[in-house]
Amino acid sequence: MMRIILIGYMGAGKTTLGKALAKAHNIPFYDLDWYIESRMRKTIPQIFAEQGEDGFRRIEYNMLHEVAEFDEVVLSCGGGTPCFFDNIDYMNQQGETVYLKASPDVLYTHLQMGKKPRPLLHEQEPTAIQTKIQSHLLEREPYYRKAKHIFSVDFLDNFEKINNSVRQLSSLLHLQQPTFNK
Ligand code: S3P
Repeated sequence: MMRIILIGYMGAGKTTLGKALAKAHNIPFYDLDWYIESRMRKTIPQIFAEQGEDGFRRIEYNMLHEVAEFDEVVLSCGGGTPCFFDNIDYMNQQGETVYLKASPDVLYTHLQMGKKPRPLLHEQEPTAIQTKIQSHLLEREPYYRKAKHIFSVDFLDNFEKINNSVRQLSSLLHLQQPTFNK
């Protein structure tokens, strides 16, 4: 059984690294937000708009309990997943949890690079978003730090850097060293 569960703030690279790690080791990859969207047939912003954050968290809780039961999985969670209910304790029971730790600067840059809509970061002004990231991260870190492993993430803006992180993550998790096809 191999369950790897990636947590961390929005923009840490959970989906990017989770997908690459899963591919390198031939393990099925799931992104919790994508799973929620396909099971609910609604986008995450739609769910927030229709059911509020509380509704979203209940759905997220239920879907987490589905996916984290799969025997072989690399699972990338949402930034808030470990911070609600007893989710982090449950994830620690189910598998190898890894906190992808990145500085507010890296998080902000990744969020600017990505196109994913984030209902919790709708502030328009760059400085407002940066301030929000800093304070929100402080609030959430106590949950993130409960992960079994902590992995530092720097800028992931090219394949070489992503592959390097996958190599380091593989050693951290005592997985075979991957070889990457060019
Ligand atoms: C959230 C993060 C999002 C998504 C939702 C709420 C959060 O996932 O689950 O918008 O509370 O941090 P990503 O971390 O993949 O952006």
